[in-house]
Amino acid sequence: GQALPVESRPFTSYGSALHITLPQAPRAGQLLTLLIDYEAGEGPGVCWLSPEQTAGKQKPYMYTQGQAVLNRSFFPCFDTPSAKFTYSATVKVPEGFTAVMSATSWEKQKDNTFVFKMSQPIPSYLVALVVGDIVSADVGPRSRVWAEPCLIEAAKKEYDGVIEEFLVVGEKLFGPYVWGRYDILFMPPSFPFGGMENPCLTFVTPCLLAGDRSLVDVIIHEISHSWFGNLVTNATWGEFWLNEGFTMYAQRRISTVVYGLPYTCLEAATGRALLRQHMDATGEDHPLNKLRVVIEPGFCLFLGVNPDDTYNETPYEKGYCFVSYLAHLVGNQSKFDAFLQAYVNRFKFQSITADDTLKFFLEYFPELKEKGVDSIPGLEFDRWLNTPGWPPYLPDLSPGQQLMRPADELAELWAADALNMEAIEAVDITGWRTYQLIYFLDQVLQKSPLPEGNVKRLSKMYPKISKAQNAELRLRWCQIVLKNNLEAEYSKVKDFLHSQGKQKYTLPLYRAMWGGSEATRALAMETFSATAPQLHVNVQNYVKKILGLKGGE
Ligand code: BES
Ligand code: ZN
Repeated sequence: GQALPVESRPFTSYGSALHITLPQAPRAGQLLTLLIDYEAGEGPGVCWLSPEQTAGKQKPYMYTQGQAVLNRSFFPCFDTPSAKFTYSATVKVPEGFTAVMSATSWEKQKDNTFVFKMSQPIPSYLVALVVGDIVSADVGPRSRVWAEPCLIEAAKKEYDGVIEEFLVVGEKLFGPYVWGRYDILFMPPSFPFGGMENPCLTFVTPCLLAGDRSLVDVIIHEISHSWFGNLVTNATWGEFWLNEGFTMYAQRRISTVVYGLPYTCLEAATGRALLRQHMDATGEDHPLNKLRVVIEPGFCLFLGVNPDDTYNETPYEKGYCFVSYLAHLVGNQSKFDAFLQAYVNRFKFQSITADDTLKFFLEYFPELKEKGVDSIPGLEFDRWLNTPGWPPYLPDLSPGQQLMRPADELAELWAADALNMEAIEAVDITGWRTYQLIYFLDQVLQKSPLPEGNVKRLSKMYPKISKAQNAELRLRWCQIVLKNNLEAEYSKVKDFLHSQGKQKYTLPLYRAMWGGSEATRALAMETFSATAPQLHVNVQNYVKKILGLKGGE
């Protein structure tokens, strides 16, 4: 019970360091118990929503978002993915509210008090808490969905009976699922991500409630983090691709088993289009377009990169290409699957660097090590990690051609100076899958601006696209509207930005508006001033930066 001197010292632009002076230096292995009394205030890790910001609009809501370095404003911690710990928490909430956490067990006690325990070691960024008017419904033997009461029916319908298959396939490919339950929590519309892999309880955007399971790849992605990211964790945020690149690969392995290779290649092709757009927007040589990013410059912590700024397509899709390249070197899918399982088993509950991964790979395949596959000119492992730019190897997505070709051809027709309406009308898109439409729209966007009048006709011809409720379709339609200056439909951009606050939807639209005409710039300013209070503070700051507003740096 000894009180200790406490001091806050400067650290970085995104946090300060808590220094506690111990009475004497502890011995190695000695148990040391510190009791820290603290209050969480307005920090970016804890989000306090008013009733208007929820789906039901009746009661307030709070949630935490730890990744990458926000949980330091939630509780004092070693806020680095290199340290893992178990935790327990006692949460007392007002009458009419429920608390849930990323924990392996929980129990409700009297006085609206919830007790949680996470019995597996996890990094700080995976501790998560939600308090709100939420209810749950079972969707599988170890899975339930959580949502506000007005969304719970839709949530149950979206994923009833489908989650277990993904878990079973994941376990078959990558080894045991160690987290007990896999539950899904549908967040309020301003949640900034598609999904967040909080262990035992994935948080997702309500945009996934498309009514037809078409966006389930996000769930498969978050499930894949159960092995890549949550069990084997990147030791530093400079190697975020170890989490996301391996997870993209695992996601597409599960998808291939469940939905087949053609569909999975189609989905991967839309990922590649996103990487292309990202690299075009930032320039291939941008330092963030390396798999290994320098977070700390060494001499001044204030000059380093904020880990949150590394959230872009490169760790995902270039990372996916690198893992696919490793599989290509092995040349046999089952051998590579066995390697992935051995890798998870070797490094589970640890935090590692890419050097650990690649060393293990070469030791697991000594014949490849002998051949010197790490130094093939142009494809050196070192180049993959440390050179910005387009991936030097792309996996073959041609098995998806049967699904992509019709979309490619249709986009070609719509890009013509004189539209061949007979040929266009001969193509029936009513039976197309959502991802075929997404792929088609990405092609149209790439060819935009189309010749005068074409987009207007396209809009009339396909209400299924221009009036879509599906968020991925709405994003692309809005991008097309902006790139073609289709003023008649600018209100759709505004409506979409009012309806949700996902970062990957919000930023591209503000970039497009700011890079456009007087009219789209005005639309950007008007939309931002109306929606800013609803957005997550990080998203707010990124938009401010795009619009050149104060506070955006
Ligand atoms: N862990 C990420 C979300 C994240 C990344 C939060 C960085 C904070 C900082 C999550 O697993 C993710 O990648 N979500 C994607 C899903 C998609 C790739 C299927 C998303 O939100 O779009
Ligand atoms: Zn992810």
